[in-house]
Amino acid sequence: MGHTILPADHPDAIHLAANIIRTGGLVSFPTETVYGLGCDALNPIAAAKVFEAKQRPRFDPLIVHLADRSMLETVASFVSPTASQLIDAFWPGPLTLVLPKRPDVPDLVTAGLPTVAVRIPNHPVAQALIREARTPIAAPSANPFGYVSPTTAQHVYDGLGDTVDLILDGGPCPVGVESTIVSLTESIPELLRPGSLSLEEIQAVIGLIKHTQTAGETEHMPGQSARHYATRTPVIILPTQGEWPAPQGSERIGLLAMSTPRHSTDRFSAVEILSPSGDLREAARRLFAVLRKLDGLGLDCLYAEPCEEIGLGLAIMDRLRRCATPS
Ligand code: TXA
Ligand code: MG
Repeated sequence: MGHTILPADHPDAIHLAANIIRTGGLVSFPTETVYGLGCDALNPIAAAKVFEAKQRPRFDPLIVHLADRSMLETVASFVSPTASQLIDAFWPGPLTLVLPKRPDVPDLVTAGLPTVAVRIPNHPVAQALIREARTPIAAPSANPFGYVSPTTAQHVYDGLGDTVDLILDGGPCPVGVESTIVSLTESIPELLRPGSLSLEEIQAVIGLIKHTQTAGETEHMPGQSARHYATRTPVIILPTQGEWPAPQGSERIGLLAMSTPRHSTDRFSAVEILSPSGDLREAARRLFAVLRKLDGLGLDCLYAEPCEEIGLGLAIMDRLRRCATPS
């Protein structure tokens, strides 16, 4: 490991990181959801480096991160009353809004779309970095395209190594699954990606919201390819009810359980429990780290127990399903 990882509370860390952003480099930083791979959102050459480092296809746009509300007008051209309501209720926090963009935002960042995705992360390190850099920061999750998102600085280093100029280590991400993305470009708001802000919380503020659920239907959306967040080990989602299929013969199978298993787990080669008490927040926080751990064991297959799709459960099942989609 090189000197790429720096503790975020080192006295020079934020200053150093902000300088890298301002001079067109790449900094990975923690947010409350996952680690981002950040660059100056107004610098197309820096944005090109992000796509390069992640091996990300150019049709998949980036989320632009702001330090505070006053930065919004530098990237978005119109904020509707519904957008304002959501901003007042949930920023800073894990809600990304898709709004009409200003011409200053490079086409590469938005993949040529007339819209820009924006959020204010609820994390002191992210906010300090953006403020010190004095520019919005475009950042996808800091993982190679298609792989499981990173929730620690080490995960970032494992996936991207020295292609990142600096990784700010702010410890494990407190929320653990990505932001919820809502598009406000049509008359009815649309949920583009379930995330750590629940649909129920959003509905409580704005009422009606469109939600097209099946992976097939969202496939045309940028970045919503059915297979994503994927482990190298194949994943099979277990039935909600009835007996689990037991591992047969010499197959080495891992079990990802939501809570303390009700069935015998003797035949499994590895067992990980996301939350013994069945707390969805704990499950979400640990999901990606546990998937990475199981994926590192070289097993033949992983069985994943499903959870109910309410609250955070919607985002957890979305990630598991994409992970389980065959390539
Ligand atoms: O929690 C998060 O959202 C994390 C942290 C780092 O903030 N970021 C993240 O970024 O998950 P990423 O690149 O993995 O996902 C960004 C997704 C794209 O794949 C696309 O689906 C959507 O955001 N997106 C971005 N801009 C968009 C736009 N203009 N219209 C529609 N969707 C957009
Ligand atoms: Mg991602």
